[in-house]
Amino acid sequence: MSQRVYIFDTTLRDGEQVPGCQLTTEEKIVVAKQLELLGVDVIEAGFPVSSPGDFRSVVEISKAVQAPTICALSRAVQGDIDAAADALKYAKRGRIHTGIGSSDIHIQHKFNTTREKIIERAIDATKYARKRVEDVEFYCEDAGRADLVFLAQLVEAVIGAGATVVNIPDTTGYCLPEEYGGKIRYIFENVKNVHKATISIHCHNDLGLATANSLSGIREGARQVEVTMNGIGERAGNTSLEEVVMALQVHKELGLETGIDSTKIYPTSQLVSKMMRMPVQANKAIVGRNAFAHSSGIHQDGFLKHSLNYEIMNPQDVGVDKSDIVLTARSGRHALKHRLELLGFVFEQETLNDLYARFLEVADVKKEVNDKDLVDLAKATVAA
Ligand code: KIV
Ligand code: ZN
Repeated sequence: MSQRVYIFDTTLRDGEQVPGCQLTTEEKIVVAKQLELLGVDVIEAGFPVSSPGDFRSVVEISKAVQAPTICALSRAVQGDIDAAADALKYAKRGRIHTGIGSSDIHIQHKFNTTREKIIERAIDATKYARKRVEDVEFYCEDAGRADLVFLAQLVEAVIGAGATVVNIPDTTGYCLPEEYGGKIRYIFENVKNVHKATISIHCHNDLGLATANSLSGIREGARQVEVTMNGIGERAGNTSLEEVVMALQVHKELGLETGIDSTKIYPTSQLVSKMMRMPVQANKAIVGRNAFAHSSGIHQDGFLKHSLNYEIMNPQDVGVDKSDIVLTARSGRHALKHRLELLGFVFEQETLNDLYARFLEVADVKKEVNDKDLVDLAKATVAA
């Protein structure tokens, strides 16, 4: 039987922190409803103390969305925790996500304090948050660069204080996959009460390793992963929802599943991109324009013989209509013949060879040969 990995979506909090991606409350509700359809388990809806607008967004999302848990961020201070709890008043299931720095860099240069004081503040914040809501997630900020022994002490302390979920963020995207997975393994092996809480993964993509690190943490036993749609987020972004979900879906041998309806991935990606005014790069895994496009002759020929030759999932699995054969000067006869047939033109091999030569002349000039160009070429061939 597969084990469940819970999807915590922070598109509306970490994702929305990106300059230029800010949304109005009404826009956030549209995105939150789509995330609910997609099947995420938790929606991090905002950071209520940060502005009246963010507070209102958490209130309204709590009213508009029923199935996922609604989460609100706070620092480990009472005012933040109160704002988060107040904003979650209408949530069917509300969670406060509080926390503090855990690396010596943060402890010294951000909080100007000591490890001991950090543990005290963490315990106080967790206990205080638990007085307001049942479900409290604690984040150990910059855990990616934290001392492992201290990190384990902090995790043990907040679980003891009532945290239901403990988040181990690689805030600066610093770790390598084995290193990050090793931290999660160490926590499972050294924190006495670890099974009283869910261990959560939250990775940033500064070295392009967010998905690899998240999978590494999941394989070591973490059962919640924090992600954003299209991987948007601070600096180089957060772990992409679509990448983790499809990696687990494609690699069934891992025995891990999510509650995501993968056929809603592409429409959700498009919605988020449009509303946040953040284009998706063409070669983005799963949701990029080229993710299911084949353009070289060798690949097109292999794909047309059997899609499995060059595709590890069906485009329909992620809500994309169909794969694309892009005709360029690198395309071969097989792809040209296939496209012409779809357009209603069937030629003998010899005629096709002549047409192919003319096609290459056009393709060398144009970047991509479109259907109109092909129809013109085919009609000229028929008329000759
Ligand atoms: O990256 C990070 O550490 C965060 C925390 C606030 C969870 O986003
Ligand atoms: Zn983050």
